[in-house]
Amino acid sequence: MSEPKLVVEGLKKYFPIRRGITEALTFKPPRYVKAVDGISFEVFEGDVFCLVGESGCGKTTTGRLIVRLIEATDGRMRYKVSEELKNQIPEDLLQDGKYVDLLGKLPKNVDKALRKDTQIIFQDPYGSLNPRMTLKDILNEPLQVHNIGASESERLEIIHRALSEVKLTPPEEFVDRYPHMLSGGQRQRVAIARAIILNPSLVVADEPVSMLDVSIRAEILQLMLDLKAARNLSYVFITHDLAVANYICNRIAVMYLGKIVEMGITDKVIGNPQHPYTQALVAAVPEPDPKNRLRIKEVPIKGEIPSAANIPSGCRLHPRCPYAMDICSKEEPPMVEVEKDHYVSCWLHTKK
Ligand SMILES: Nc1ncnc2c1ncn2[C@@H]1O[C@H](COP(=O)(O)OP(=O)(O)OP(=O)(O)O)[C@@H](O)[C@H]1O
Ligand code: SF4
Ligand SMILES: [Mg+2]
Repeated sequence: MSEPKLVVEGLKKYFPIRRGITEALTFKPPRYVKAVDGISFEVFEGDVFCLVGESGCGKTTTGRLIVRLIEATDGRMRYKVSEELKNQIPEDLLQDGKYVDLLGKLPKNVDKALRKDTQIIFQDPYGSLNPRMTLKDILNEPLQVHNIGASESERLEIIHRALSEVKLTPPEEFVDRYPHMLSGGQRQRVAIARAIILNPSLVVADEPVSMLDVSIRAEILQLMLDLKAARNLSYVFITHDLAVANYICNRIAVMYLGKIVEMGITDKVIGNPQHPYTQALVAAVPEPDPKNRLRIKEVPIKGEIPSAANIPSGCRLHPRCPYAMDICSKEEPPMVEVEKDHYVSCWLHTKK
C-alpha cells in the first residue's frame, strides 16, 4: 500500500462574523461561521480522494486550506515531500524523515516549493481565467513566478507541451487565443494545464466539471485520470455529485456542516452507506437503469441544512435525523471503524 501523501488532523477554519455596533458595545462574544470544524483524513499517494456533501458543508474551504489559499484556524496538515524537495528542508522540520507540517512555520524557499507542489483547479472555467490574457500569458505566469525555463523559447516549449497534454492541439493554434475564444470544456483544459505545468504532486480539483455540459464531463474526468497516471498525481476531488464521486474516486469523505460523517473506500461508503446522511445522499442519486439501482431505503432527512453560523449541539444532523436518540443532541459521536477502511461518526454505530 502507498504511503499517505497528506495527513490532515483536526483541521478547522472559522470565519468571524462581522458584528454590528450594538453587539460590539455590549461586549457580546464574537461569533464565527464554522466552515470546517475539526476534520481528519489521509490522502494516499495515487489516491483520488473525494470530498462530497451538500452546498455549504465546507468542501471548498477544505480545498483552499490544503493549497493554503487561506489560513487555518487550527489543526495540522502533514505533507510528504519529494526526495528532491527533502534536500531543501532543514532536518528539524522533517517528521519521520519525509513529512513537513504545511501549517507550521516554513522557510520562504520551502514554502514556495510546497506551494508549487500543491495546485488547485477551480470550479468556474469562465471566471478563473483572466479574459485579457492569451493562453500563452496565462500559462507563462506561473512559470515566471517559479523561475521555470531559462529563456522565453524554453518556456514556450513547456507551454506547448502542457497544451498538448490537455489535448489542445496543435498547441501553436491555441497559444494566442483568449479564453472567450474557447468552449467551456476547452477552458477547463487550460485551467488543468495551468495546474500541471508546475509539475505538482497533489492537485485539489474543486467541482471541475460541475459547470460543464454533461456531454463533455466524461472527457474532462478521463483527461484528469490520464494525467494522474502519466504524472503520478494524487487528487483531492471536490464534488456535490455522488455519481461523479463514484466514477472517479477510490476513497471518499462525506461532509456535513463542517464535519466528516463517513469516510473510506468508495465502494464501501457508496455501496454500503452506514450514516443516515450518506444513506439519504445515496438514495437520492438517480439511476437510469433500475436494475443497477443501489438498494438503499430512502432516509427521510427532514428540512434544510442549518447555517454554519448556528451549528446544532451534539451530532449536528440530529434536528433532521429520523433515528435521533437522546444522546444525539448532547454529545458528538466519535468516528469509528465499522469495517476495514470504512469509518462512520454516528451513535447508531457506537456504544456509549
Ligand atoms: N470567506 C468567507 N467568509 C465567511 N464565510 C465563508 C467564507 N467562505 C465560506 N464561508 C462559509 O463557510 C461555509 C462553507 O462554505 P464552502 O464554500 O466551503 O462550502 P462548499 O461545501 O464548498 O459549498 P458549495 O457546494 O456551495 O460550493 C458556508 O456557510 C459559507 O457561507
Ligand atoms: S448520531 Fe444520532 S442524530 Fe446523528 S446521524 Fe446518528 S442517529 Fe442520527
Ligand atoms: Mg464549493
